[in-house]
Amino acid sequence: KISRKMPSDIAAMKGQSPIVCLTAYTTPMARIMDPHCDLVLVGDSLGMVVHGLESTLGVTLEMMILHGQAVARGAQAACIVVDMPFGSYEESPAQAFRNAARIMAETGAQAVKLEGGAHMADTIRFLVQRGIPVVAHIGLTPQSVNVFGGYKVQGRGDAAARLMADAVAVDEAGAFAVTLEKVPQGLADRITAEISVPTIGIGASVNCDGQVLVVDDMLGLFTAFKPKFVKRYAQLGDAAGQAVAAYAEEVRARRFPAPEHMFSDEVKK
Ligand code: KIV
Ligand code: NA
Repeated sequence: KISRKMPSDIAAMKGQSPIVCLTAYTTPMARIMDPHCDLVLVGDSLGMVVHGLESTLGVTLEMMILHGQAVARGAQAACIVVDMPFGSYEESPAQAFRNAARIMAETGAQAVKLEGGAHMADTIRFLVQRGIPVVAHIGLTPQSVNVFGGYKVQGRGDAAARLMADAVAVDEAGAFAVTLEKVPQGLADRITAEISVPTIGIGASVNCDGQVLVVDDMLGLFTAFKPKFVKRYAQLGDAAGQAVAAYAEEVRARRFPAPEHMFSDEVKK
């Protein structure tokens, strides 16, 4: 049996070795990344990259639980974190606990992640005190896209002090890691140096304590748009398109299935 990385193990990696994270939404993808990743995030990005939604706002608790269960079947070693979807935690600490408890109980994940800084600190503390490890997510928090007016860099100029205060607040509230999304490099470095728990950057800084990417982005599977912070390590979307085209051509030419894909009528004895 492979031993599972727990939230406390992730927290202990700060200052030791970079934390490798990717998102996953399915069992086969979780299996592929499990030997390589410290943390696997079932991100609510699944609404956009898997379900074709315009934003993450339409993602439901049921969707997160279903994909969380699928990922948990494929990842034995990585710490599994499931995003709390829009509307499932903002109302009150009690609402957040009720829904986070369902995620934990029904998926077998080790932690949840929620968006928000200082204003979510009471909720983070409430969850952690009741047994639910929390990753905070600050900077560009996509569930607030309508307030931000787009997927913009957060924390430049006057906003830097507020973002630093958010990072300190979620650290003090007991989050075991903090995702920094689309935060300027220098500020990400100052936050990483200031707080006691690991920062996990996406569009932040190479000096963050860890990095995360959306798997469909880094594999070239989601190509509707490409944020600046995405590096494509493969072009699986192109490869899949070529494979489907080849299949279509062979079916139309009656070249597939070939003899080795068919069954003889002979009775075997
Ligand atoms: O939903 C997601 O995939 C995320 C990561 C980008 C951090 O929150
Ligand atoms: Na997310």
